[in-house]
Amino acid sequence: MRKVAFVLALAILATSLVAAQEIRVGGVGPVTGEAATFGISTKNGIMLAAEEWNARGGLFNNRRVRIIFEDDKGDPAEGATVYTKLIQQDNVVAIIGTVMSKVTLAGAPIAQANGIPMISPTSTNERVTLVGDYIYRACFIDPFQGTVGANFAFNELKARNAATLFDIGNDYTKGLAENFRAQFLKLGGKVVAFEGHPAGATDFKAQLTKILANKPDVLYVPNYYNDVGLIAKQARELGFNGPMVGGDGWDSPDLVKIGGKAVENGFFTNHYAAADPRPIVQEFVKKYKAKFGAEPDALATLAYDAAYIMFDAIRRAGSTRGSAIRDALKTTNLDVVSGKVTFDSNRNPIKSAVIIEMKNGQQVYRSTVNP
Ligand code: PHE
Repeated sequence: MRKVAFVLALAILATSLVAAQEIRVGGVGPVTGEAATFGISTKNGIMLAAEEWNARGGLFNNRRVRIIFEDDKGDPAEGATVYTKLIQQDNVVAIIGTVMSKVTLAGAPIAQANGIPMISPTSTNERVTLVGDYIYRACFIDPFQGTVGANFAFNELKARNAATLFDIGNDYTKGLAENFRAQFLKLGGKVVAFEGHPAGATDFKAQLTKILANKPDVLYVPNYYNDVGLIAKQARELGFNGPMVGGDGWDSPDLVKIGGKAVENGFFTNHYAAADPRPIVQEFVKKYKAKFGAEPDALATLAYDAAYIMFDAIRRAGSTRGSAIRDALKTTNLDVVSGKVTFDSNRNPIKSAVIIEMKNGQQVYRSTVNP
């Protein structure tokens, strides 16, 4: 009888030990709110990566990863709340997130203060990783992205008079507008209008009327897809037929749903193209399509890559200690879907950009620009 009880106790102990060995990692993205397609893609990418690592036996010592995913709703205050929850209640050892720079800038100081390493898949604002030594990202930064956009407008589209309309309540769109302007001026172009609009606006006609009075030959719109769709429509209604250029925030299947024909003659800088023939890309596109029934956009790809970078660092650290994972992240050297990743001294990877053209309602790959 005693023997049975002993064996039973051992079995219970063993199961709880196994359960305790699971490694908890937080995931964050805007699954609802102003740019919900961003969050859905991000969640898909992280979950697919975790499934693959678990199928291969977990991160280290057969310890599987468990993703606890939270919705930041595209809102900085909500972002701060979910970062705190993940760290204090769920005891995650690392965070993959979040997407929008303005929300990541609210979450990163919390991760940093708690010594929890994090990697944003897609936040491109320069200030994000400057928050501290626990903060990494898997994408290029906006000084590069804005430069690529300006070079494209000046050299390829032959534009000489540019105008831009950006969201004054969004670090990403404001920063990118400034980065574009700096490079366009450097090339010898003129910036004939530099207009902000309030966050949450849906009527841009007042700003657009003012902008168009200055006769720009290109309109730079560094916003998220929902605003871009409306701005494009209203600009066309006001008679602007010239090209529009933007950044990665255009990347959503909903851009065309909102903007329709108005987004034709539109171009944007992005992180990756699904048409890239490299085997690592095509294999990922196939797997993702089979699982989620859609082509992965840049958000899905970078989330998948960010998860790989984090899991690889935890594996190499062989530990769940924050400082050990942080140190392992520093020496990352990994081929992921969106390219080869090593980090510079500001914890940014150096990566190329692609230019995408909106043609007949489709994203068409145009070119790759190396840093
Ligand atoms: N780069 C954007 C930001 O920093 C987020 C984003 C990335 C949106 C990629 C779409 C595609 O806010």
